[in-house]
Amino acid sequence: MTVNKTWQEKGYIDEPIPDGIDLVAEIESLKKQKNAVLMAHYYQTGDIQDIADIIGDSLALAQKAVGIEADIILLAGVHFMGETVKILNPNKKVLVPDLNAGCSLADSCQPADFARFLAQHPDHKVISYVNTSAEIKAMTDVVVTSTNALKVVDSFPKDEKIIFGPDRNLGSYINAQTGRQMLLWDGACHVHEQFSLEKILELKKLYPDAELIAHPECKHQVIVLADFVGSTAALLSHIGNSNAKRFIVATESGILHQMRKSFPDRELIAAPPMDSTCACNNCNFMKLNTLQKIYLTLKYEWPEVTVDPEIAEKARRPIDAMLALSKAFTK
Ligand code: 13P
Ligand code: SF4
Repeated sequence: MTVNKTWQEKGYIDEPIPDGIDLVAEIESLKKQKNAVLMAHYYQTGDIQDIADIIGDSLALAQKAVGIEADIILLAGVHFMGETVKILNPNKKVLVPDLNAGCSLADSCQPADFARFLAQHPDHKVISYVNTSAEIKAMTDVVVTSTNALKVVDSFPKDEKIIFGPDRNLGSYINAQTGRQMLLWDGACHVHEQFSLEKILELKKLYPDAELIAHPECKHQVIVLADFVGSTAALLSHIGNSNAKRFIVATESGILHQMRKSFPDRELIAAPPMDSTCACNNCNFMKLNTLQKIYLTLKYEWPEVTVDPEIAEKARRPIDAMLALSKAFTK
């Protein structure tokens, strides 16, 4: 297939979709015809989550990417997730619906700057959040996600010197929980840092019975106020384990779809962001993916995720280390 120049410039396929087309049926048919599998992160819109073959948080997506038998993997999420899937499946075609779906957190940690930081602290082990480019992973000892970060850090000796990057909020949360003093990279997720403490306090006053549940990428002021702190998957399962009937949810709003599907009897209130009249908090990168783009990506098998094989080989080691540790934690 020749890639149209306009698509290349745009980073996605902008072909008009014929009127009346049943996108869900077309996607299903293309998946069968091409032996493709659709993976989606919980921050995708509900329509994408509902047609995904595999859905999960960052850890689940990395775990489930191992051993996929399909010829094509279409990852509806952001670019670093596509890279992780490609690193774990170097011989498969890995597609994403839009190459512009980046991540402010991953972008806050540029390889040259990170390499300089590591060179200043050569006696430190390097733990990196999965929200990083393949180049950063290649400089890392173990990758973590928000689901396993605490346990992975705790698996190191108490006196081990550690650099943790790039999320300063997750890093400080782990430092506080473990009593460690890991050196933190000064990065953050623009979505999770956006929650308004004032608006959350107003909601708590309005609904005193509601539990505040928050992702550890949120700012310290929100985390200390929270009744429960956990990854996207942990927040979802906490709702099922809690006796509360109402929850104020401080994370990206895509997960509310899954929460409502799994627990229709619970009332879920999206924690509002600052500087916005919108009541919920969306990741504009995650929301670049649409059913239309998924259909066109499957049809033309483009855009494809590529990772330099030398970088991929180096980046695979810390990902494999994380997957092995996560397996050991569940034994
Ligand atoms: P988890 O999927 O680990 O909860 O991470 C959230 C996130 O911000 C993904 O980009
Ligand atoms: Fe990155 Fe934050 Fe969006 Fe996740 S929610 S992809 S961390 S910008």
